[in-house]
Amino acid sequence: MSISDLLESTPAGDADKPQSLTIRRPDDWHVHVRDGAMMKAVLPFTAAQFARGIIMPNLTPPVTTATAASAYRDRIRAALPAGSDFEPLMTCYLTDSTSPDEIERGYREGIWLAAKLYPAGATTNAHHGVTNIPALAPVFERMERIGMAVLVHGESTDPAVDIFDREAVFMERSMLPLLNAHPGLKVVVEHATTAETLDLVRAHAGRAACTITAHHLVINRTSIFQGGLRPHLYCLPVAKRERHRLALRKAAASGEACFMLGTDTAPHPRAAKQAECCSAGIFSGATALQTYVQVFDEEGALDRFEAFASLNGARFHGLEPNAGTVTLVRKPSQAMAAVAVEGDEVVVFEGGKTLPWSIAN
Ligand code: NCD
Ligand code: ZN
Repeated sequence: MSISDLLESTPAGDADKPQSLTIRRPDDWHVHVRDGAMMKAVLPFTAAQFARGIIMPNLTPPVTTATAASAYRDRIRAALPAGSDFEPLMTCYLTDSTSPDEIERGYREGIWLAAKLYPAGATTNAHHGVTNIPALAPVFERMERIGMAVLVHGESTDPAVDIFDREAVFMERSMLPLLNAHPGLKVVVEHATTAETLDLVRAHAGRAACTITAHHLVINRTSIFQGGLRPHLYCLPVAKRERHRLALRKAAASGEACFMLGTDTAPHPRAAKQAECCSAGIFSGATALQTYVQVFDEEGALDRFEAFASLNGARFHGLEPNAGTVTLVRKPSQAMAAVAVEGDEVVVFEGGKTLPWSIAN
């Protein structure tokens, strides 16, 4: 055996494991592609990994009308790399003054698929969000009637609530009342971070679902303070205790229909992350699929990855799964460290690390 044979041999213990996995092309049910130069820099990564993505509307100003959503969709399509067939699925940013007629118009005209509910001030560019959720009942009633889903950033904005409890408090105070007040409303709890949220979603499965990010499967709240303060691991909802991370991994790997892939890839320039007041958001757009498949492999659940990544979300939103396939291979490759944008750069989640899985070309 030559030296090169030795170098290329399979790591001990991996020989009997699947060396590749082919699944239907996956979708990202929660993605921030931003706008302008940032969009140009980050969109190619999402478009290379996913066939479709639900585009978050938290631009400045936010995407609150069907006309604005349509124009934003045009800008996304124009920014796609040549030959890409990535399909942006648009959302309406709900405010206190959103009208049921506008919601229905955008939905019927095929401009947006869902509406996004940010409690006012809960996260990046959420200051135009909703201050009184029950007061938006006419909008939710209309969505219930036309079968349009609401995607919820589920964190309490009560300043008295501890940041690590904001999701749990929102579920009790706002999510349960919303589910009870509108029994026919389709609800996606975005980026779930606690075991209790997963149970709440399971209890309403069929008309409720949740997205789970790659980073919340990998980091817990201690990771943010590992050896010092790690701004690039700060996002909202903030990562929680280890027991929650383990529950998220079990839920994703279960293949249950109410759990779907949503990266919440949220790029910010390095200067905004390594700042006196660090912006919330983790950019996982370049490494999400490799990270998810690694987690499913570690959980012994590769056979359930397709359900999570490519089937559950489409079924929930009433769309067909994608036609093509993607092949993931057990072949280590080094993730890029950062993506250049306008004289600055965006740090990549897991960037610089050698990840055990790659996407086959
Ligand atoms: C997101 C962003 O930067 O737009 N940030 C984040 O930490 N996830 C907003 C969001 O989804 O909360
Ligand atoms: Zn988000």
